[in-house]
Amino acid sequence: MDDGQVTAVPVIAIDGPGGSGKSTVARAVAARLGYRHLDTGAMYRAVTVLVLRAGVAGDSAEAAQLAQSMTLELGRSVLLNGEDVTAAIRALEVDEAVSSVAANPAVRANLVARQRAWLDGGRGAVVEGRDIGSVVFPDAALKVYLTADPRERARRRLQQVGEWDPGRESVPVEEASALLSARDDLDATRSSSPLVVPDGAKVVDSTGRSVEDVVEEVLSYL
Ligand code: DC
Repeated sequence: MDDGQVTAVPVIAIDGPGGSGKSTVARAVAARLGYRHLDTGAMYRAVTVLVLRAGVAGDSAEAAQLAQSMTLELGRSVLLNGEDVTAAIRALEVDEAVSSVAANPAVRANLVARQRAWLDGGRGAVVEGRDIGSVVFPDAALKVYLTADPRERARRRLQQVGEWDPGRESVPVEEASALLSARDDLDATRSSSPLVVPDGAKVVDSTGRSVEDVVEEVLSYL
């Protein structure tokens, strides 16, 4: 369209609970389209690293201050105040504490502003998180809500952190599943931007499907 107006940057918003395959699918969709990719969960995790190190509560004003004053670069690695925290943001303590940090409205306001600024003037983008289609980019060209069966989500999360051992499946999967559902409950019931299926989102269930298959379905909605 050439009507003299600045064309908005096309955004694909991918939301969903932990382990639903958001990161893998978002990365693959971005690669297929030549778009940039933003993992907003990594941003909440980075603030959580600072909160844990400072020994402050996730819902405190100090936590918001840490978010406000940090420098954060997300690329192949995650650089927090110049330090590579790519591995540290995936630690179990971060998994356990991140929901309380993500429930802090002042932290959210700061990170949402960073997410919108990241988009500014850039090429098309795939942005993944919990509130992308509902709050951050409600005018996204495509909104996807990705979901999967809870046990499969738990297995994927263990694989992601390198703790997946098929030989001792039952106990770690039960534990990971309990941790994930506790986090899902907190994310879905918090008052500030809870995890919801955004208006107009396509709900995609990735259970038992290959990444390629899910990516094709997402691309079919464009
Ligand atoms: O997707 P993830 O597991 O890396 O997300 C980590 C936490 O951050 C999770 O508890 C939900 C929260 N989060 C959020 O509240 N809003 C986002 N846009 C992204 C993540």
